[in-house]
Amino acid sequence: MASKSKLQKFAELASNPIVLEKNPAFKGKWNTDFFKNQHPIVLELACGKGDYTLGMARLFPEKNFIGADIKGNRIWSAARIAGIENLQNIGFIRDQIDHINDYFVPGEVEEIWITFSDPFPRDGDAKRRLTSAKFLPHYKEILKAGGLIHLKTDSDLLYHFTKETLSEFPSEILKDYEDVYAMNKNEELYGIQTYYEKMHLLDKRTIKYLCFRLL
Ligand SMILES: C[S@@+](CC[C@H](N)C(=O)[O-])C[C@H]1O[C@@H](n2cnc3c(N)ncnc32)[C@H](O)[C@@H]1O
Repeated sequence: MASKSKLQKFAELASNPIVLEKNPAFKGKWNTDFFKNQHPIVLELACGKGDYTLGMARLFPEKNFIGADIKGNRIWSAARIAGIENLQNIGFIRDQIDHINDYFVPGEVEEIWITFSDPFPRDGDAKRRLTSAKFLPHYKEILKAGGLIHLKTDSDLLYHFTKETLSEFPSEILKDYEDVYAMNKNEELYGIQTYYEKMHLLDKRTIKYLCFRLL
């Protein structure tokens, strides 16, 4: 079968009820109107093809998972798999993370994951990094008090930048793994490997992890 064109994928995305495209219709109503249960909501930012979101949704049916990314192609892949597997505890947002507060009321999110987000190496782009001081207050607002944020990255730059940013922001680092695999910690992180993580592992890059909360 010929692969689908971008236009076909975008048309499918627009009519897929588990994908919110630039449409914060469920703000404050994710539990009551979208998932129709009171389970905690875990949000993955820059989810790409949704590997972590999908992996966690399979492992934890008693929680709800939402993956957010701006790239329609990638969200289409993720939503397609969720549909094939008939996962009931998953949704996707296609939008800029800069707009994430439009989608949730304060305290609506239990936990945030950020996996292999772009390190944006140029100094001038530092504020685009998803753990920059520009983004952290937004996360603090939508998270429950004490809600955890998880960062998994291959980038030394992003890892050190995040620690430095946190040192200037009321926060607490709970876990800091400089080399997830050398420390045998990936099972603790549910054993999930994303598309980008697999590529970085083939390149023999070390994978780093931080778990922190904003105070
Ligand atoms: C390197 S990929 C990682 C994807 C996935 N987490 C993985 O590990 O395979 C980074 C993703 O971040 C998304 N992204 C970067 N900045 C973003 C932003 N401000 N808003 C939404 N998505 C963003 C990109 O579209 C891309 O899919």
